Amino acid sequence: MISSSELKRRYITFFQKHGHRLVQSASLVPENDPSALFISAGMQPLVPFLLGEPHPSGVRLCSVQKCIRTIDIDDVGDKWHLSFFEMLGNWSLGDYFKKEAIEMSFEFLTKELGLPLERISVTCFAGDEDAPRDEESARTWERLGIAKGRIHFLGKKDNWWGPAGETGPCGPDTEMFYHVQDLQEKSTEDFSRLSSTGPFCEIWNDVLMQYNKTKDGGFEELAQKNIDTGMGVERVIAALNHFDNVYECDSLAPVLDKVLSLSKPGTERANRSARIITDHIRAAVMVMGEDRGLVPSNVEQGYVLRRFIRRSIRHARGLGIEGKFCSDVAKVVIDIMGESYPELKRNSRHIFDELEKEEDKFSAALSNGTKHLESVLIRLNESGRRELSAKDAFDLFQTFGFPLEMTEEICGEKGFKVDRAGFSALMREHQELSRAGAEHKFKGGLADHSEETTKLHTATHLLNEALRKIVDPSIRQMGSNITAERLRFDFNYDRKLTDEQIRKVEDWVNMVIKAEADVSFRTMSVDEAKKLGAQGVFEKRYESTVKVYTIARGSTIYSIEICGGPHVRNTRELHSFKITKQEAVAAGVRRIKAIVK
Ligand code: SER
Repeated sequence: MISSSELKRRYITFFQKHGHRLVQSASLVPENDPSALFISAGMQPLVPFLLGEPHPSGVRLCSVQKCIRTIDIDDVGDKWHLSFFEMLGNWSLGDYFKKEAIEMSFEFLTKELGLPLERISVTCFAGDEDAPRDEESARTWERLGIAKGRIHFLGKKDNWWGPAGETGPCGPDTEMFYHVQDLQEKSTEDFSRLSSTGPFCEIWNDVLMQYNKTKDGGFEELAQKNIDTGMGVERVIAALNHFDNVYECDSLAPVLDKVLSLSKPGTERANRSARIITDHIRAAVMVMGEDRGLVPSNVEQGYVLRRFIRRSIRHARGLGIEGKFCSDVAKVVIDIMGESYPELKRNSRHIFDELEKEEDKFSAALSNGTKHLESVLIRLNESGRRELSAKDAFDLFQTFGFPLEMTEEICGEKGFKVDRAGFSALMREHQELSRAGAEHKFKGGLADHSEETTKLHTATHLLNEALRKIVDPSIRQMGSNITAERLRFDFNYDRKLTDEQIRKVEDWVNMVIKAEADVSFRTMSVDEAKKLGAQGVFEKRYESTVKVYTIARGSTIYSIEICGGPHVRNTRELHSFKITKQEAVAAGVRRIKAIVK
């Protein structure tokens, strides 16, 4: 049996041998990227560098990135989809391109991992009005030894990746599939229908990032052509060990075992509910295990957490699991994943507490809400209707805490739909969570590098420093999120800032703006940066070489911070700074929103 850690080690060693530098996994919550709630691919933290910012580690990078894909939640429970997974990736930032990328992928899969050639199929882009058919990739695969019958051409829906948001780098991709069974003649079947759900499982995607999608919907050639690849650890472990699903992988099987041991006798390993609980509790643990103190709530990441946990509770009841069980499952996750992610161990108390609080909140409501919903559905059925009204769905949310998606799932199981649009309208009316906003973010997105966000990014460095100078020297950044309209900064502090403190913080930032300080960066080692007293967010995340931004006027230094950029050149570009809001986000964590104008 090849373990996940062995696979990760082999991948990194292989790409290091080919000149790549290892970059650390970024936090699951993107920094300064308001267009996405979670990191869903290894390329996301690298967007500035894919767009041309020089990366301090050079032009060949590789990583193991923790990812959350909310878009796949509905598929979880099948053999291959997970909402949390680990992604192996290698990148060329304007260095090698498709031929070399494919050659390396091929060598890694067939030589390094020894996957049999006859179990591998690949897909290439079929071509359309935006980009030509990718004959070059196909020829490369064929030359390496993939039989012609196992090279499939598919359209944009299948063989194009990105942009992650509305605009940005994207391109055709070439994907590698593993045949779980020995298929022989079946390779000519409709490939797209089988992939990922049938006996074919996508294991690796090489994105040939050669276009920039522009605001008008056009595709222009990128000056810097990149390679962006992503390989799912759990899927490859399944392939290597001849499992026909990801739940037998060493990072998931003990979690599934635990769920089954709590379930009613006779529950099968392939039980969909057991798989959903396994996946969802793991995802919730990974999110709450980060040093941000995230908790279930009705907004943004907290709402996704709530869905993971509440859906697990509902599926647990179906398996005969009564009472609290989430922490029991979470313990197993922490034991396994804590090896690679020590933050889980540091934050285990927080994880258990929040899981138990959520179970307390939801358990009674779940059974009452389910009874209520069932009686509503009986009435609907009698009147011959097949759609639950927005008002009913909204009542379930408000009175019983049913996330909309859970109501949809229960209704779906009984053949009913839910008036989703009406529900969203009611939500907006009641000024609850703006689900529309959250949904938009589920799509994932590229960091926006407009002039406005760049200014706010520099203002964030100044705010960070001002809080330490004026409020408390032990303040550290706990999270940052920037849109074109405002910055949002989370930091460790347990009290409301007084009006005077707010005013003094604003005054200090405005003083630096008026001082017309220069913003510049140097690349240096982490040790050197520490010696300089540079601020860093999450130390363990940094590479051995980092970019350090300094805001200074002559010999007066206002701020030194490790950061990827980009920033303005001079603080005068910010004009003026104003704090618009302060609030508490979690125990001991406060949030400030601010603007420049
Ligand atoms: N960005 C691509 C993906 O997520 C390759 O990593 O599939």
